Amino acid sequence: MKSYQEGIAYQYLKQTKYDRSLSLKRDDLGPLPRPPAYKNYPEAPRTALPKPAFEKTESLWNILNQRRSRRRYTSKPISAETLASLLWATQGITLSRPEYQLRAAPSAGALYPVETYLSIHNVSDIRQGIYHFNVLDFALEEIAQGNLGEELTRSALDQAMVGSGAVLFVWTAIVLRAMWKYRNRCMRYIFMDAGHIAENLQLAATAMGLGCCPIGAFYDEEINKILKIDGEEETVIYLAAVGSRSSR
Ligand SMILES: Cc1cc2nc3c(=O)[nH]c(=O)nc-3n(C[C@H](O)[C@H](O)[C@H](O)COP(=O)(O)O)c2cc1C
Repeated sequence: MKSYQEGIAYQYLKQTKYDRSLSLKRDDLGPLPRPPAYKNYPEAPRTALPKPAFEKTESLWNILNQRRSRRRYTSKPISAETLASLLWATQGITLSRPEYQLRAAPSAGALYPVETYLSIHNVSDIRQGIYHFNVLDFALEEIAQGNLGEELTRSALDQAMVGSGAVLFVWTAIVLRAMWKYRNRCMRYIFMDAGHIAENLQLAATAMGLGCCPIGAFYDEEINKILKIDGEEETVIYLAAVGSRSSR
């Protein structure tokens, strides 16, 4: 019988520990290319996002106390302002300097390897489809039209909340954005970054009275195909559904 230490999960943790007796790099990959800091789809039809609503909400302590993963939503649409507020909470630029920008959620080395896509099912004034979030311009870039909720649900092990929410957040990683610097340790940081982003989303959704559920179970390559990304340089890492909250 094999021991758990032989599994790739344990081996990954072990082989990517910082250790004073070893170099931080611990690999022989040589210099790695650094991809652009921002992704955009210049040819895609654009939807400008309204300014985030920044509604007055309950205290942070109450919001933390109320945060729950909620999987049932009503058919009530969410507004474009609400969607803008959610996006701002996840990846919005909160400090802008000519040479760099910082965002609402922290990121190892401020490298921001995580990209945001949306599958919009029920948002007022934004037609159904798959969109990429352009962080710098605070706009949506359309990748595909139509309601892809059912297809995404099938790709997420038939979890109904994927398609029944007003919007599905789909986060990908452009792995080299973190790997050129952090080498094999980068996957730790990428997943930590995604966790911060998803928690910001869940707290913002809670503050606005919406339901939200993070989702880690999905067939990666099926989702990559829906997003039209290659699964190599960029691959899906995490999802979250958001919808109007059902009392059930
Ligand atoms: C990394 C991660 C992946 C998750 N994946 C799923 C999922 O695929 N399906 C699901 O129903 N809930 C998923 N959840 C939600 C958890 O089930 C939930 O956080 C947990 O039951 C605790 O409940 P709470 O979030 O309401 O406190 C996930 C949560 C995290 C943090």
